Amino acid sequence: MTAPSIAHFGVVGHPIAHSQSPFIHHEFARQTGLTVQYEKILAPLDGFSDTVRQFFRTGGRGLNITVPFKQEAYELARAHLSQRAALAGAVNTLWMHDSALHGCNTDGAGLVADLRRLGHDPRGKRTLLLGAGGAARGAIPALTEAGCRTLHIANRTAARAEQLQRDFTDYASRYDTVLTSGAITRVQGQWDLVINATSSSLDAATAFDIQLEYAPGALAYDMAYGTQPTIFMQQAAQQGAHEQADGLGMLVSQAAVSFAIWNGIEPATTPVLASLRARLSNNDARS
Ligand code: ATR
Repeated sequence: MTAPSIAHFGVVGHPIAHSQSPFIHHEFARQTGLTVQYEKILAPLDGFSDTVRQFFRTGGRGLNITVPFKQEAYELARAHLSQRAALAGAVNTLWMHDSALHGCNTDGAGLVADLRRLGHDPRGKRTLLLGAGGAARGAIPALTEAGCRTLHIANRTAARAEQLQRDFTDYASRYDTVLTSGAITRVQGQWDLVINATSSSLDAATAFDIQLEYAPGALAYDMAYGTQPTIFMQQAAQQGAHEQADGLGMLVSQAAVSFAIWNGIEPATTPVLASLRARLSNNDARS
């Protein structure tokens, strides 16, 4: 019997040491019976495209792309982008097909999959999206496709939120989602779903200076994650959000969509999320 050939994958970023992607993908591989090697790849800030070319030239099957290279990955795969990547203006998943580089963005799909896992399908929901950077941009098409009733984009710099509204108005109207935007300090109304897509949770000292009105049963979702509830989640609990969740499930779900693109098998996310959560807590307890 011949040994199964090993398929090579990786995640490219700068920095990259913190990445949980190898753990997640090796768990998916174990679950689905595939033989996979998935590594962290630190690309020099001025050497992203060389790193990608070298990886595929030596037989690599697929790459995930993280900060700060998602826009560069979009440029590299410009000739063969999925609709999701084209709308997001950023790529987090690359692969070769017929000798050409292809790109997709699985972040938005990962977010919606995680909201559904939590029992908060966006369909029909009054949704507030905080932030207007790359993370928010990636979320908007997936949230509108999922059928949010209203989607309000609120940002510290209102002009960036207004620009996103302009960019996605036509797209949102196809799905009957009413898209609005404004300054974060001027948010009004009651929300079923509030999603924090700002980078503010990464700074533990930062809290939003806003009072939000959560509808009964509402979910406050932070795309950031940690071993403790984020500042945004703590604030949401104080302001009456029925449930709070961090973005670890989104991380696992976006990885599952990448895995399915590369391998044609959709892995189960729930057991992997549980083991990743335990792993992070253990690491935290040891440090
Ligand atoms: P990403 O790709 O992670 O979205 P980004 O494009 O730099 O990163 O966007 C960061 C987002 O977080 C922006 O919406 C930013 O608001 P501004 O557009 O006003 O800069 C938001 N952000 C970062 N720190 C924040 C803070 N302390 N309070 C509120 N919003 C913050």
